[in-house]
Amino acid sequence: MSEVVERWGSRRAFIIAVTGAAVGLGNIWRFPWMTGENGGAAFLLLYVVFLALLGLPVMVAEIMIGRAGRRTPMQALTFLARDVGKSRHWGLLGLFGGITLFLILSFYSVVSGWSIEYLVEAFTGGFASRTPQEIGSAFDNFLASPGLVLLNHSIFLFLTMAVVASGVGSGLERLNNLLMPLLYLLLILLVGYAFTTSGFTTALSWLFKPDMSALTLTAIFNAMGHAFFTLAVGAGALMAYGAYMPDDQSLPRAVITVAVLDVAVALLAGIAIFSIVFSQGMDPASGPGLMFVTLPIAFADLPGGALWLGCFFVLLLLATWTSSINLAEPMVAMLGSAGLTRPLGALIIGVGVWLMGLPSALSFSIWSDVRLFNDMALFDLATTLPIDIMLPIGGLLIAVFAVWVVEPPRAIAAIGAGERFYRVWRAVVRWISIPLLILVLLGFFLMK
Ligand code: PHE
Repeated sequence: MSEVVERWGSRRAFIIAVTGAAVGLGNIWRFPWMTGENGGAAFLLLYVVFLALLGLPVMVAEIMIGRAGRRTPMQALTFLARDVGKSRHWGLLGLFGGITLFLILSFYSVVSGWSIEYLVEAFTGGFASRTPQEIGSAFDNFLASPGLVLLNHSIFLFLTMAVVASGVGSGLERLNNLLMPLLYLLLILLVGYAFTTSGFTTALSWLFKPDMSALTLTAIFNAMGHAFFTLAVGAGALMAYGAYMPDDQSLPRAVITVAVLDVAVALLAGIAIFSIVFSQGMDPASGPGLMFVTLPIAFADLPGGALWLGCFFVLLLLATWTSSINLAEPMVAMLGSAGLTRPLGALIIGVGVWLMGLPSALSFSIWSDVRLFNDMALFDLATTLPIDIMLPIGGLLIAVFAVWVVEPPRAIAAIGAGERFYRVWRAVVRWISIPLLILVLLGFFLMK
């Protein structure tokens, strides 16, 4: 259980890696879906509040722990706890995070598979001359074909595990970083197009003029889970990255940079998607298919649209690929510290995740009638459990660990922004983040 000695080559390299984990399906696919389902601006406002009061402080906590421990998550937690005479069982928090990542990757891979299908469709002209109605029903038909959905899930998972097995993740991150500005550019282009549609102003007021009476308990709960999910916080994935952080980097500054970019991508996607929703008279609460139906409609309206759409999905897939590598990596590292080689670890996790992905993949076809707990479809359960329940619980425990187990001098050094910042951060975590997390979690469990 020795300390890692490698460091990221530069401060930028750390930021690039964390952005790679943060920006993904959460921003472009799940954010619009959740916002649509939960009534628009009020949800957006809550999500931003949770980002500021929970997501960011816990993100600092999580990376700080990794940096202070300089080990894999489970080892770092055990080491830091034992060092101050606290229970070594804190290491189990690392395992809990690993299980969360496992569950997230299972549906993440299925949805990324949908993007592969759309990439192929776009480049082969599948969307050309289709009406919006046809585009909508094409998505439903696709989801109802179990073989095709499973094939794409398998391809995406194979690509992810192959990179993790061979350990070339950092090379991919650099490529991702090189190409991501293009994704942002395409999103800006889409917003430019959205501006010309009749739904633009409705979309803006729907997104930015909150109607607090529309807020439900589920919306509060979804917003909290999404704040963790989009930042990749709460399951120890970033703890693993913190272990390699350069000694002289300020953690808060890096975290803010990532968060701003992350929110910007979500907002651009939201504006583009909801303009199309309102100009086509669609229902914002169209569920997980929202992005897959609106974007082809938008691009179909642009010159050379099929090509642009294809490029969009290439870039989106690249973004999701780096996120999914970050999801898989800590689990393979965990098996590695138990003595398994990388390829074997990747194979075991890959097979496990593939099987775990079956409920998500088949939720819209052969298992579409299955309903569990509170009448939930399998896909909803597969996303809600790890995102809305497990990430916040993990985040809560990480926050408790960071302020009560890690000793101040060690935490101050690992945050790298001076004592005054540490005090403010600790006060926020103790008096705001932790009580708020407990309140929302309890509220949900008691009222549901
Ligand atoms: N943040 C990623 C996204 O928005 C998902 C993710 C969650 C990645 C947790 C790693 C860990 O798509």
